Formats: sequence, C-alpha cells, structure tokens
Amino acid sequence: MQLCIALDLPSAEANLALAESLKEHNVWMKVGFRSYIRDGKAFIEALKSINPDFNIFLDLKLYDIPNTMADAAEEIARMGVEMFNIHASAGAKAMQTVMQRLETFDKRPLVLAVTALTSFDEEGFRSVYGKSIDEKAEEFAKISYENGLDGVVCSAYESKAIKAATSKDFLTLCPGIRPFGEDAGDQQRVATLEVAAKELVDFPVVGRPVYKDPDPAAKVAKILEVMEKR
Ligand code: C5P
Repeated sequence: MQLCIALDLPSAEANLALAESLKEHNVWMKVGFRSYIRDGKAFIEALKSINPDFNIFLDLKLYDIPNTMADAAEEIARMGVEMFNIHASAGAKAMQTVMQRLETFDKRPLVLAVTALTSFDEEGFRSVYGKSIDEKAEEFAKISYENGLDGVVCSAYESKAIKAATSKDFLTLCPGIRPFGEDAGDQQRVATLEVAAKELVDFPVVGRPVYKDPDPAAKVAKILEVMEKR
C-alpha cells in the first residue's frame, strides 16, 4: 500500500505548508480540481521543489473526445506528475488513444479510470448508465484493464472484487479511508486501514483525518507505521 494525501486545503499556501510538514515521508500527494484550477502548474512545481521525491496524483478526471483527452494526457505527462485519471465512461477508444499517446514517454504517468462517482445513489446512477453501480463499476474496470490502463479509482469495498475480475496487479486507489475509524464527515462508506489491507487496496487516499489533525506529520507517521506492519 502507498499512502496518498488529499491536498484539499483552501489555499496554495496552506497546502504547501501541509506538504512541507510531510516532506520526510514517502507519500503521494493528490492534487484536485480546485487547487489545479486555482494554482496550476506552478503548484505542482512548488510541491516538487519541497521534495522532488513526492509522487503526484493529478485528480482531474479527464472526459472528452479521444484526441482531446490524449492531448491533455500528453501535457500532464510533460509536467512530470506520476499519476492522473480519466473517466471510464469516455470509453475504450479514448482509453486506447490516451495510452498510445503516452507510449512515446520513457517514463509515463500511471493512468487510472474513475468507474462510478461515489456521489451517485443507485437511482441517479441508473438514470445515467442504465445499470446498478456494482455491475457497471466492474464492467468499467474490465474495460479499463483490457485497454491498458493501470487501475481504477473505486470504493475500498470494491477493490478485491475488481482485482478478481481483472488482475491482482490492476491498481486500486480508494478515497474515503478513515485510518483508525475517524469521523466520516460527508463520506457515505468509509473504510479503516485494516479494511483497506484486507481489500488489497493499493492507494488509500486520506484527506481530513490528516490535514485536520493538530499534528499531520505525526498522524502520517502513525499511518505509515501501521501500513508497514501489514
Ligand atoms: O477528506 P477525505 O479523506 O474524505 O478526502 C477524500 C478525497 O478523495 C477528497 O479529495 C475527495 O474529493 C476525493 N474523492 C472522494 N470520492 C471519490 C473520488 C474522490 O472522496 N469517489
């Protein structure tokens, strides 16, 4: 397992201060829509200058026509981030076009697909995709695997089933992790580190339990210690 910290604080300064406090640790940093739209490429560079070994996950969930997605993927790869994601519902052709375009890079970023947004309830999901969340998420995971993606973003509770339907090496990145059972906040289904380990999660994503802790660095150290024992 590799720990991924969500940089969801309200300003670049606050996110960089959090990153600075975590610079001794080997963690992934998740940069989302809000920070990237506000702080852009300079923010990625600032993170790398704090610690060149930080791995960065750019969580922009690309969704467009295949060529436009591949253009964006190429720009993301040039930026030197280690992982980004696309929407699986963009389809097989978009996945193939993105992965082909990335072949030209010596070291390409990992590419994950978003299966089902966790904000959907069953009825809302079915009205868009025509199937249940579980059924469609697994179908999207299989399409992503068959078209060369590295993994999916999913709930911790779907991780094992997705690996069984694809491959044990197909990566799962799972938000909604409450390492030691902390407050769920607005998350519907949260999982502890213990559940994440049982479910073979590759990347547990943790936001609030770290950045709302009075000592985020100590909290991360504790999480890493528990992860290493598993
Ligand atoms: O604070 P918390 O640990 O709940 O943060 C989870 C992070 O993962 C947030 O950045 C949230 O936007 C993101 N995320 C999520 N559920 C998804 C996809 C992303 O919670 N399905």
